[in-house]
Amino acid sequence: MKAKNIFFGLFCCFALFQWAHFNWSRNVSRHDIQRASEYHSGLQMRQFGIYPFRFFLIDKTLPPREVANELRLVQNPPDTCDNPDASPRCCFVGTPDSLTSEMKIAGKDEPGERLLIRGRVFKADGKTPYPNVLIYAYHTDSKGIYSKKGDETGIRRWHGRLYGWCRTDVEGWFSIRTIRPASYPDSRNAAHIHHVVQEPDGSEPYYINDTVFDDDPYVDKRYRANETKGGHSSGIVKLQRQADGVLKGQRFISLK
Ligand SMILES: [Fe+2]
Repeated sequence: MKAKNIFFGLFCCFALFQWAHFNWSRNVSRHDIQRASEYHSGLQMRQFGIYPFRFFLIDKTLPPREVANELRLVQNPPDTCDNPDASPRCCFVGTPDSLTSEMKIAGKDEPGERLLIRGRVFKADGKTPYPNVLIYAYHTDSKGIYSKKGDETGIRRWHGRLYGWCRTDVEGWFSIRTIRPASYPDSRNAAHIHHVVQEPDGSEPYYINDTVFDDDPYVDKRYRANETKGGHSSGIVKLQRQADGVLKGQRFISLK
């Protein structure tokens, strides 16, 4: 009788733990959906493992097929960011909580010419500095490839290993230290750095025009003519070599 009671007590504790753990991870996932992407939530769910009691936590009033679907999603959520056209939210999966205005993409061992972009973000009037704007950037390596480490998931499987984030300072300034990217192999595409921004009002992140380089032969007349169409601020940056050999350029961005 005693042993039965102990077993029952242990069973209840274990069930309670499973229930609390499941709900906690669901809350974490909800937070991450808002903050980053559905993919991240899927990853969280996978990290927390299998829930022996999950079947009892699913609404049984649902038709059996939907219960089965829900169980399958818990066990194997779709990687919605593993897609070249994935939501810009995917670019912010894994963003550190604390960010400065300085983004460092490439380390000293990365082959290529050192590049420093100093930038400033303004509001739509083109005059008011815009602080606390989250910026994501990624680009190809010195061979024009979005090279990877091999263990990437989600959007990294498309954007590769050369990426970073920063947040504009009180005056809207930011900087990116990296290497000069090359254009895609056997292409006539201008070498470029992609950018996604997220404004501090919590609205959906979005792509802005790429940073390209004024001395790039593929930044031709046609490219220049289209660059500021629709009132965009130009992403064409003039580079100057500094005494330390680093190529430096400046870019101003007005957000719409
Ligand atoms: Fe690209």
